[in-house]
Amino acid sequence: MSTQSAKQKVTIKTLHKFKKDGEKFACLTAYDYCSAYAANQAGVEVILVGDSLGMVIQGHDSSLPVTIGDTAYHVRCVRRGNERAMIMADLPFMSYYSESSSLENAAILMREGAQMVKLEGGAWLAETTHLLAERGIPVCAHMGLTPQSVNHLGGYSVQGRDPRRSKEIIDEAKILQSAGASVLLIECVPVNLGQELTESLDIPVIGIGAGPKTDGQILVWHDLLGLYPGKTAKFVKNYLKGNRDGVQGAIAKYVKEVKNGRFPAKQHCYF
Ligand code: KIV
Repeated sequence: MSTQSAKQKVTIKTLHKFKKDGEKFACLTAYDYCSAYAANQAGVEVILVGDSLGMVIQGHDSSLPVTIGDTAYHVRCVRRGNERAMIMADLPFMSYYSESSSLENAAILMREGAQMVKLEGGAWLAETTHLLAERGIPVCAHMGLTPQSVNHLGGYSVQGRDPRRSKEIIDEAKILQSAGASVLLIECVPVNLGQELTESLDIPVIGIGAGPKTDGQILVWHDLLGLYPGKTAKFVKNYLKGNRDGVQGAIAKYVKEVKNGRFPAKQHCYF
C-alpha cells in the first residue's frame, strides 16, 4: 500500500477504481472501537457492521434477533475507531419491509456513521434500492446465501449450484445494479458463479465463500481470528493460528493475501 492510499479515505469511488484497475480489496466485519482501529491499522478497506453480531456478539443462533438499535450502537462504536475504511452497516431483519421503514432505518445508520447500507435479497429489492440510492444512501445488495432468510432457505447452504438458480442470481444482480446498487456482496456460491457475476457487473463484487475471482473479499472478525465456538464454514481461514504477530499481524496477513490473490485458496471454495 502506498503512503498516499494509506491516508486517503475509502469511498465508493475508490471501490469502483479498484474494480477498474483490477486491484483486489479487503473487507472485514467489526463491531467495536478496538476492532475497527485494528482493521484500519492493517489496511482493511471496508468495515462491515454486520448483523452477524447477533451470533458472534450476542450469542443467538441466527441474525434475526438483531434490531436497528443494536446495529446503530455498534456503528457508533466502530466509527470512533475508524479513520480510513468505508463503513458499511447491515439493515437488520425486517427493518426494510416498507418504503418508510427502509428510509428511516437507513437514515439512523447513516447518522451514526455508516457510509453504505447492506440489504439482503434479490430483484424484489429493486424499488427499495432505487429509493435509497436516489436519496444519497449507497446500497450494497447482498445475494446468494442470505442469512436473514435462513428459515426460508432451510439452513446455511451453498446457493446457485443449479444452472437455473445461477442464472436467476445473475439476472437479479443486474436488476439491482440498474436500480442503483453501488456494490454487490455475494455469499456462499460456486467459484464459477462468483466469477461470472464479477465479470458481468460494472459495480464491485465482494465475495464470501464465492471464490477468488471477486473484486473484494470479506470475512467475519471472529472467524478470521478463530474465536467463534460454533461450526465454521469451509470458506473461513483462521489467520491467528501460528501467527507470531498476534491479532494485528493476523489481520495484516489477511489483507495481504486478499490483495495478492492467495486468499481464498482452493480449499476455501465451493464448486
Ligand atoms: O453480517 C455479516 O457479517 C455479513 C457477512 C457474512 C458478509 O453479512
